[in-house]
Amino acid sequence: MHSIRRPGIDRRSLLAGSASLVAAAVFPRGSRGSTAALAREFTLVAALGRLSLVGPPYPDTDVWCYNASVPGSEIRVRQGERLRILVENQLSQATTVHWHGVRVPNAMDGVPFLTQKPIASGEKFVYEFEVPDAGTYWYHPHHHSSEQVGRGLSGALIVEEIESLPVDRDVVWVLGDWRLARDASIVNDFGNRMEVTMAGRIGNTVTINGRVPETIPVRAGERLRLRLINAAAARIFGLEFRGLRPLIVAFDGQPVEPREPPEGRVVLGPAMRADVLLDMSGKPGATAAVVDTFYRDLSYKLVDLVYTNEPPIRALPLDPPARLRANTMPEPDLDNAEKHTATLEGGMMGGRGMMMGMGGHGMGWSINGVAASGHDMAPMITLSRSNSCVLAIRNETAWFHPIHLHGHSFRVIARNGQPTRDRDWLDTVLIPPREGADIAFVADNPGDWMFHCHILDHQDGGLMAVIRVA
Ligand code: C2O
Ligand code: CU
Repeated sequence: MHSIRRPGIDRRSLLAGSASLVAAAVFPRGSRGSTAALAREFTLVAALGRLSLVGPPYPDTDVWCYNASVPGSEIRVRQGERLRILVENQLSQATTVHWHGVRVPNAMDGVPFLTQKPIASGEKFVYEFEVPDAGTYWYHPHHHSSEQVGRGLSGALIVEEIESLPVDRDVVWVLGDWRLARDASIVNDFGNRMEVTMAGRIGNTVTINGRVPETIPVRAGERLRLRLINAAAARIFGLEFRGLRPLIVAFDGQPVEPREPPEGRVVLGPAMRADVLLDMSGKPGATAAVVDTFYRDLSYKLVDLVYTNEPPIRALPLDPPARLRANTMPEPDLDNAEKHTATLEGGMMGGRGMMMGMGGHGMGWSINGVAASGHDMAPMITLSRSNSCVLAIRNETAWFHPIHLHGHSFRVIARNGQPTRDRDWLDTVLIPPREGADIAFVADNPGDWMFHCHILDHQDGGLMAVIRVA
């Protein structure tokens, strides 16, 4: 695996390129301070585009994107607001949009055949829902998602707290992963059977907000709130911020007691998010490298944070941040919870060495013995509305799986049978090979909800089920 490197990039031109599109997509309605009954209106046009991902001297790349940008226009609202989002499909194939992590009503969840008819080419669909919880979320297609996300369709959905954390800058990094040929075009090899049964279609080029980054300017002494969104179809990131002490304040949009991640490394499987506070403690003119060390022997430098020569923004470091106010999920009642198990099986059983000569085998994936062949499935589990549920997820495979549940956030209460200390609320939990995680939640959102791996090739390969809340 190699990354395309290229000479310097002018970050200013990158920012200028997307700013007008972001503004054009937002049509606030109603007067300021209006009540939640008035919806904020947005438009997302899914269409082909041609953008510079790698930068000169490489040519532009043909992508699929929202509002002519990668990532798509950022949607930024306040907690409790109502959104009305018109999605216009100008692609040549059907699509849907899923609001990952947001607890929307089932009919707004964007799952083809299960919650809505796919939006055919040339058609429109209006999504409308309230955002009950603050946090960092994102949106992406749920139809042919391995290819549609892999070609560029995704965007950030930021829900601001009523009472936020004081920071100098709020910065969103949508992390993308691309498999590019030498001419910077997207390699057209989606759905490769062998990759489906292994780590998924991991690319060779990583972008931040749709560009291969070179350097990002920072100022000495400033405090950043860095919202990391892993929008890759298969790549897992393990980001180290050399010389800095990243402090996690939220995972998957949900506040945690501010803490440093183990070994200072922020691990994010596909679809996972982290809000990281970064105090830029270096000196003017210094550099802090951000390095991705997740895959052993394949670590690479993602970007350099380069301190400007301005004097530090403040003389003394800031106090540690307070914890963000909790969101609105009800607390699961563990003593009276329904207990269920989801066992993940399938995939190649060996390591990388086994891949040779096995290309023809149709080894898929399954949950509790069932391999999904489409979204419109009979439920694997039916929960009574308002009941608490503890779901023990067992990964009996040789691969990592970021497992996502729609319509709910859940607490991770145990790993490998051991209670977790932090009991984080997540919507996507990364489970290492042959490990397990127990999740707990209140089944308070009625409907049929997807439960699947967010390595999108695994999902396509059958690692998907439906949990019904009736
Ligand atoms: Cu991010 Cu089922 O999706
Ligand atoms: Cu998986």
